[in-house]
Amino acid sequence: MIKTIEFVDGAVRMIDQTRLPMEKVFVDCQTIEDVGRAIKTMIIRGAPAIGVAAAMGVSLGADAISGEDFDGFFSQLEKQCDALAKSRPTAVNLAWGIERMKRVARAGKDLAIADLKKRLREEAQIICDEDIAANKAMGSFGQTLIADGNNVLTHCNAGALATAGFGTALGVIRASVNAGKKINVLANETRPFLQGARLTVWELMEDNIPVKLITDSMAGHFMQKKQVDVVVVGADRIAANGDVANKIGTYMVAILAKNHNIPFYVAAPISTLDLSLATGEEIPIEERSADEVTTINNKRMAPEGAKVAHPAFDMTPNHLVTAIITDKGIARPPFVETLKKLAGE
Ligand code: MRU
Repeated sequence: MIKTIEFVDGAVRMIDQTRLPMEKVFVDCQTIEDVGRAIKTMIIRGAPAIGVAAAMGVSLGADAISGEDFDGFFSQLEKQCDALAKSRPTAVNLAWGIERMKRVARAGKDLAIADLKKRLREEAQIICDEDIAANKAMGSFGQTLIADGNNVLTHCNAGALATAGFGTALGVIRASVNAGKKINVLANETRPFLQGARLTVWELMEDNIPVKLITDSMAGHFMQKKQVDVVVVGADRIAANGDVANKIGTYMVAILAKNHNIPFYVAAPISTLDLSLATGEEIPIEERSADEVTTINNKRMAPEGAKVAHPAFDMTPNHLVTAIITDKGIARPPFVETLKKLAGE
């Protein structure tokens, strides 16, 4: 499997997800600003991958700071972090990755600046490695919920590409296949940015996992025809009460699943929990460019001058969520209690 993100020769190398599946092109980010741009323009996307990219970006930012005094170093680092934190608003992993790096910087205030930079590089690598381990843990918990022969519907891309590797929702599917279960995936195309069509279908085909691409509007039809046994999606931020922000269209799928008595599972690492928010109402919903709605692959679909609404995420209320699969175990309602317990708070 191609690496989503890694340190190569002092740069942060990412596969350019705006060009997949047509081209496999890698982008080398040399600075924290490059990483911020890559996140903003969706070269790298998916909540956990954004968190890893942020941590690696902070390490690049630290390397570029000159001077030997900690206070001067830390105030410059904080400025860079504040700018990076603005690159995308919904996935909490961005702030999580940045905060963890800042904590490590503060804890290393007595180190020589050169050693502190090394420590930050090391921490970013640890965050990357831990993400893969978390996905594998989620996979082994989550696969217990999937039966041999299940047809699994997923939305957006919560796969290896959306993480440092293995994936969250697709990690559960991969772990089920690795456990010897025969799984068929239905992948919603995920308009407007087509992460399902472009990325999920590509990833699963690379792994020889049976997948059929459907348009988002077909999900209800296949549920009615009893061709969906279970839904598994990822998340960008989960509030303390279990409300889930994920790619636009997820809410619609959750309502359909409820109507057809189909389990609706969310797979997300603990780093995607935002227990500081009581409910999903408080989660900021990103609005991206109107062009994502009016065009497909740079080809205009709507009349010139058409007015457009373009939220990139929606919020699925907790009562539609059957269970949340985390790297620390499976949370079931009442989420306000079970999530807190899993997060160790
Ligand atoms: O806009 P994107 O592509 O960053 O949105 C991604 C999603 O909504 C994913 O489902 C979510 O980040 C979970 S990824 C493991």
